[in-house]
Amino acid sequence: MSSSNPLRDAADRRLPRIAGPSGLVIFGVTGDLSRKKLMPAVYDLANRGLLPPGFSLVGFARREWEDEDFAQEVHDAVKEHARTPFREEVWQQLVQGMRFVQGTFDDDDAFVRLRDTIQDLDEKQGTGGNFAFYLSVPPSAFPVVIQQLKKHGLADQTPESWRRAVIEKPFGHDLRSAEELNGLVHEVFAPDQVFRIDHYLGKETVQNILALRFANQMFEPIWNRSYVDHVQITMAEDIGIGGRAGYYDGIGAARDVIQNHLLQLLALTAMEEPSSFDADALAAEKTKVLEAVRLPKDLGRDTVAAQYAAGWQGGAKVIGYLEEEGIDQASKTDTYAAIKVEIDNRRWAGVPFYLRTGKRLGRRVTEIAVVFQRAPHSPFDTTATEELGSNAIVIRVQPDEGVTVRFGSKVPGTSMEIRDVSMDFAYGESFTESSPEAYERLILDVLLGDSNLFPRTEEVELSWKILDPIEEYWDKHGRPAQYPAGTWGPAEADEMLERDGRSWRRP
Ligand SMILES: NC(=O)c1ccc[n+]([C@@H]2O[C@H](COP(=O)([O-])OP(=O)(O)OC[C@H]3O[C@@H](n4cnc5c(N)ncnc54)[C@H](OP(=O)(O)O)[C@@H]3O)[C@@H](O)[C@H]2O)c1
Repeated sequence: MSSSNPLRDAADRRLPRIAGPSGLVIFGVTGDLSRKKLMPAVYDLANRGLLPPGFSLVGFARREWEDEDFAQEVHDAVKEHARTPFREEVWQQLVQGMRFVQGTFDDDDAFVRLRDTIQDLDEKQGTGGNFAFYLSVPPSAFPVVIQQLKKHGLADQTPESWRRAVIEKPFGHDLRSAEELNGLVHEVFAPDQVFRIDHYLGKETVQNILALRFANQMFEPIWNRSYVDHVQITMAEDIGIGGRAGYYDGIGAARDVIQNHLLQLLALTAMEEPSSFDADALAAEKTKVLEAVRLPKDLGRDTVAAQYAAGWQGGAKVIGYLEEEGIDQASKTDTYAAIKVEIDNRRWAGVPFYLRTGKRLGRRVTEIAVVFQRAPHSPFDTTATEELGSNAIVIRVQPDEGVTVRFGSKVPGTSMEIRDVSMDFAYGESFTESSPEAYERLILDVLLGDSNLFPRTEEVELSWKILDPIEEYWDKHGRPAQYPAGTWGPAEADEMLERDGRSWRRP
């Protein structure tokens, strides 16, 4: 019988969501991502009491490690990178469920050992057959791992137990390869078993785009072509490629960042309000807006690919991309990419969305700036508003997470002079609790089977459909432009906006 109070029937979303009996298998557990992000996230979840008592962590890698060696590695990674303080009692419980399976991905015996390990954990730790397989491996290894999971029955669910696959980016390197990979994944796993990681979606500030837009009344009425002049979405890094030449060269900034993170940010910024926040409704709206993205007619004019040249960063001289170790002198890989797109629907017709990302730029910053049109009429002398820019709402994704609203205000004094000021909301000041790391949220959601924050097949393929023609154009049309390290990108990107009567923000 339902109670008379409907609120009592609904799950209270403020209560902590705790994962049920389960375990996580990490392939590529000796890798950089696993050490810096995944292992610490598992510990932080345990420390916050969000994992079940028998939670198990299985590492799979080539090294000749015993369970104890693996546990020591996790211990060191946690001590170095975890967000929350180290607590011996939490560690002692977590370590009970740690196992290591040694082998290569094509080694059938290793997968038999993995199956036995899982069975053993089900008996000893009560994991109930519920396991997620995290593929933190080079993209070239995705197919073999997925096939091995199938071959050894590890993807098979029962009515009482679940199996899930977590797949890191990059998900393909163009539409064709993404479709192939999706085909392969879905031969083995049903759509609701697959969790594709775009770690940006695990960030509090990215989820806050939805809160800002749909929990408030004051923003949404002006969030459209009648008031918005344009939108700028930026992900800038101040570092170079570091030791990742093998991964980065041939991929480049647009594939590495625009295809996934920036197009997801665009979708959340531009989509219509979903009928609810369940995964299907959210994906439906994101998909609709990605389908409506239109590329500029002249890709030479409205997209820019560039490479960093030697320059100065943080007071030190740094080398250019072509001088980095392991980079081919003839490489045409973009370390900076800027594109302009429009969205063909009633809300956004005629409003350009400018997306840019790059390495070795002036500062590390990710933000979405919704820039408004000028007031249609000004009763002030032009001299009074000379210093007045455009109003803007800036969602600061990282670092310094928060929201800035920029508007004009009278300068104190006897004359009327109006200048830009800003009103700031900062996470660090408004809330006492610190934000969880994106990977904490995402791993917990995988264990809970909550797929809201994971891009679906259609979203991934639509994003490649947007990017493919641009990449083809760049391939055909010569070398990328150059920009000195430590600056805000090439002159060509500035000119791209100047031609539209606009300019890039210098965050
Ligand atoms: N690093 C990041 O911050 C980051 C960010 C976003 C996405 N990603 C993605 O996450 C994945 C992992 O990245 P990563 O930086 O951690 O890579 P990585 O440091 O190169 O690690 C790759 C892992 O895969 C293992 N491996 C490779 N080939 C294998 C084989 N044939 N058999 C068994 N093990 C094999 C390696 O084991 P060995 O130690 O034995 O070589 C290592 O543990 C990639 O898909 C990457 O694109 C990484």
